Amino acid sequence: MDQFSSLIQKLFFLYICVVSVDAKNNNPFIKKILLMSFVTTPGLEDYQEEANLALIFDKYKDKFTTFPKEKGWMTEELYKYQGFWHQSKNVVSVETVMATQDTFQAFPTDIYLATLPKSGTTWLKALVFATVNRNMYKNKPLSAHPLQTSNPHNCLPFVECEVLKTSPTYVDAYLPRLFATHMPYTSLPQSILDSRCRIVYMCRKPKDVLFSLFHFANKLRGKSHIVMTFEEAFEMFTKGVIPNGPYWDHVKGYYKISLEQPTKIMFLTYEDMKMDTPKYLRRLAKFLGYPFTEEEEAKGMVEDIVSLRSFDNLSEVNKHGSLSIGIPNYAFFREGKVGDWRKHLTTEMSEMLDQITKEKFDGLDLVLTD
Ligand code: A3P
Repeated sequence: MDQFSSLIQKLFFLYICVVSVDAKNNNPFIKKILLMSFVTTPGLEDYQEEANLALIFDKYKDKFTTFPKEKGWMTEELYKYQGFWHQSKNVVSVETVMATQDTFQAFPTDIYLATLPKSGTTWLKALVFATVNRNMYKNKPLSAHPLQTSNPHNCLPFVECEVLKTSPTYVDAYLPRLFATHMPYTSLPQSILDSRCRIVYMCRKPKDVLFSLFHFANKLRGKSHIVMTFEEAFEMFTKGVIPNGPYWDHVKGYYKISLEQPTKIMFLTYEDMKMDTPKYLRRLAKFLGYPFTEEEEAKGMVEDIVSLRSFDNLSEVNKHGSLSIGIPNYAFFREGKVGDWRKHLTTEMSEMLDQITKEKFDGLDLVLTD
């Protein structure tokens, strides 16, 4: 597109934003969106999504102002909604959760990947996208595979972001629809709970989630915010104040239902997946209704997917660029290890987290301590 057309497009969407949103409210986020339209060069869809996001913020802004509030990690504030802490003024936020609950329609063929942030969401997205769509790309050169050039977050969207789209993700040829979510089980839209769709939950041990989240938040805070200290992060985590947390309630919610309805929810751990990725990928593929055939096994398809979507390969592809919401791709790939917390947590902190975890999971066959 030439520069003139690009400017006209920007002016058009600036106009939509201004007329469709109550700009008189002096909403700083809307101002930011408008400013972003000029300093970045997103595509047409990004403008539409930004305009829709602004409309959603505006629609829900009065609904949660009285909810309990705490200081946020990556956003200014976290609000407690239905027992869980949510970011605000973000694509995955209390506003988009409410909008999703109000409008989203699940299909029985849908697949949902549920996680807490920093539990391996990006990796799980890559593995599931590659597995479910393997036939679509099997006769094409590797370079044509979307995961070779694009962040897994661009290939498999969050259901919370579906409300931003002008037309829903539904094309016969691309069934099943694949979505991720950070929503707790009890906040999922009723249509997901009622439908025969499948849900995969990946959980990660709390100390690594805490440490990963601490680094991620500081990366995103960048120079414009005061960097968090680890002590501050630890205190917030133990109080349960993390995006989509408390950690323990989120994990417990999905774990219990996975026991009651094992054909609806598969419960995986990041640690198991790291320990033996081919074994758990086979289980995952079977659960999703895409088991590897003998022929595929003989050709080494499982090992290929595992190695192509390994930490090293994914982080290489995502060294540069950023998501349309501005998060740099590399931010989703740090160490990708189990037990990285050992280098940083004091013995006292580690014991305290173990104690809380044991108490919270009392009576459950779920060991997430170390
Ligand atoms: P660390 O910060 O401990 O390295 P999420 O995708 O939910 O945001 O989780 C991010 C965590 O998953 C980060 O953990 C990141 O390094 C790790 N990760 C990303 N890709 C991975 C992969 N292919 N294999 C293992 N871990 C991966």
